[in-house]
Amino acid sequence: MRGIVVAGNWKMNRDVRAAAELLRDIASGLAAEAPHSSVTAVVCPPFPSLALASELLIGSPLRLGAQNLHFENDGAFTGEVSASMLRAAGCDFVIVGHSERRQFFHEDDAIVNRKARKALEHGLTPIICVGETLEQREAGSTEAVVRTQIHGAFEGFSREQAAAVMIAYEPVWAIGTGRTATPAQAQEVHAFIRALTSELYDSDLAAAMIIQYGGSMKPDNAFELLSQADVDGGLIGGASIIAGQFLSILASANRAALAKHQA
Ligand code: PGA
Repeated sequence: MRGIVVAGNWKMNRDVRAAAELLRDIASGLAAEAPHSSVTAVVCPPFPSLALASELLIGSPLRLGAQNLHFENDGAFTGEVSASMLRAAGCDFVIVGHSERRQFFHEDDAIVNRKARKALEHGLTPIICVGETLEQREAGSTEAVVRTQIHGAFEGFSREQAAAVMIAYEPVWAIGTGRTATPAQAQEVHAFIRALTSELYDSDLAAAMIIQYGGSMKPDNAFELLSQADVDGGLIGGASIIAGQFLSILASANRAALAKHQA
């Protein structure tokens, strides 16, 4: 039985002082209402706050992730951060190939593949982001786009490597726009992605793969989205930097997890 993983992508928001405050608020909310045993809560603050965050989160069920990494181990790559640095700062997860990185920093599927590979080498769980633009959806090419992204991201991965990856389906037109995919639209693409991973590997691997939805997931739509059979969590942007909203989405995840376990 797959669990539910809810990850907060803080993007370029909150300096170290504000991050500490937000983390305390989220952690104390979680102490009051513990996540269901199958729900994992992750926060991904900007790099400067990671080391402090991992200290603040000692004893909390909240887990830590980063928003990006470089694909080399070390060396002359000014401004970059390596997988081993993220591990040393307390991270267990790292977002790879977010559409903002693809759009503004020209990351392509080959770079996503190298980054995910490096994350895995260092024991980080890569959250690989895929998703179509509005133009691509309207042209009817959503599945073709997602297929290309998934094939590129998993290129050359062994079964063992693939089994250690998480995927986030994030339709670009839903990110930061307040325009969410309907639960049915999300479910359709999630089922397609699961079938793809089954084709690439096998049905056991596909059945265990965590596939998150991202794109304007908010307290008022989270439960319905997370209740879909193939939606195994959320990658949350805007609502993750407001403690009350993130906690409310986690409460929805608890309810969805309970319902899925009873089904
Ligand atoms: P959003 O961002 O929730 O603000 O739409 C999601 C994401 O970019 O991961």
